[in-house]
Amino acid sequence: MAVVPTTDIDMFATSDQRARYEQYRQLREVGAVVRLPGLDAYAITRYAEVKAALADHVSYISGEGVGFNSELNQLIRGTTIASDPPEHDLLRSVVGPGLTPRVVRARTEEIAQKARSLVAEVVSRAEIEGVAELAEAMPMSVIPDFLGLPDRNRDQLYEWAKVGTDMLGPVTERTPHNLEMAALSFQFNHELAANREVAPGSICDDMLKAADRGVIPREKCPLLFIDYLGPSLETTAAAIGHLLVVFAERPDQWAALRAEPRLVGSTINELVRFESPFRGFTRVAAHDTELGGVTIPRGARVWPLTASANRDERKWEHADEFDFRRNPIDHLGFGYGTHGCAGQGVARVELHALIHALLESVERFELTGDPVIAENSMVNTYAEIPVRLVARNAA
Ligand code: HEM
Repeated sequence: MAVVPTTDIDMFATSDQRARYEQYRQLREVGAVVRLPGLDAYAITRYAEVKAALADHVSYISGEGVGFNSELNQLIRGTTIASDPPEHDLLRSVVGPGLTPRVVRARTEEIAQKARSLVAEVVSRAEIEGVAELAEAMPMSVIPDFLGLPDRNRDQLYEWAKVGTDMLGPVTERTPHNLEMAALSFQFNHELAANREVAPGSICDDMLKAADRGVIPREKCPLLFIDYLGPSLETTAAAIGHLLVVFAERPDQWAALRAEPRLVGSTINELVRFESPFRGFTRVAAHDTELGGVTIPRGARVWPLTASANRDERKWEHADEFDFRRNPIDHLGFGYGTHGCAGQGVARVELHALIHALLESVERFELTGDPVIAENSMVNTYAEIPVRLVARNAA
């Protein structure tokens, strides 16, 4: 019988992305599929196998939850992200229309305006804390209105989203606080659905109307609201935080991008490949499967590490180098297959708008201190980025 590659590397020992990339490299060396006895799971480490697993939603299911924490896996049961066809397809048909390119395009100018005014504000201050003042501020200025959420509790939405992603990891000392926050978030979303506290004509309103028509059960609505909120805020903020650090560390690339702004789309793809906001959502093997020469037993938790796939040297030349010209359109940072990110059109428009606004106003970024990495089991992001935005006319 073939020996299953196994490692005792603690994949949750650090939130430092540089250390995580080194772990991924070691894991890819060990095998395409590696048993992690400490987590009682199988990591899928290389690009080809990660993509194959994500493409096979029959063998690798989401309905048993997409994280490691069984309590959270229970809580999110029945959301789009944690369901399988045919239920998944029904939910996605309700979630999806609000995010189609046509709908997103109709809001492009509004999002561009928000980006321009946000950038004007931070450039006027010059020295900012980039996470709160720019990275989080951008999706917070777009997503709640997009969904049609009321004004109340807006200051808590981001914290709720953050604990939701962190909780997908195994139990940590942060879990009790996270669970408390998750309970508040669930209660809020239940109230919104019960009281129809959402803007008429908004995405959340469309979901309630789908329930009125009997397309989905009414009790699904709060779960679907969470489906949008959970993965839409912190991931986008993470990408913006990485944008600041990546270009502060590579002023020559920022200058080159300023000369070639048509490469903003390529830059977004490279950013999400190079610093994938999400490490990877888990699955459960529905039956015994063969992948990368390993038999994964039925019922095993499987972790397609998209962040590792995006750095796989078998797929990408100079995988550990950032190059805004690379345009890696087949990166896996937005997932792949049935569960591929439903909101990537919105995320791309937000990033597009923000980068263009920054290109118009900012000569270069200068870190004024060391960025602080956020403690989060599943998202690769910063808690603080002290940064100076050197205005174009002031340089
Ligand atoms: C840079 C920003 C973003 C990144 C990196 C990202 C990443 C991802 C990934 C990796 C998945 C796959 C989940 C899986 O395989 O189980 C996903 C799914 C999803 N994302 Fe995003 N996301 C981003 C922004 C957004 C936004 C802005 C929204 C909503 C407006 C959103 C809504 C969703 C939804 C609803 C799903 C579930 C899709 C399904 O299960 O069919 N995401 N996202």
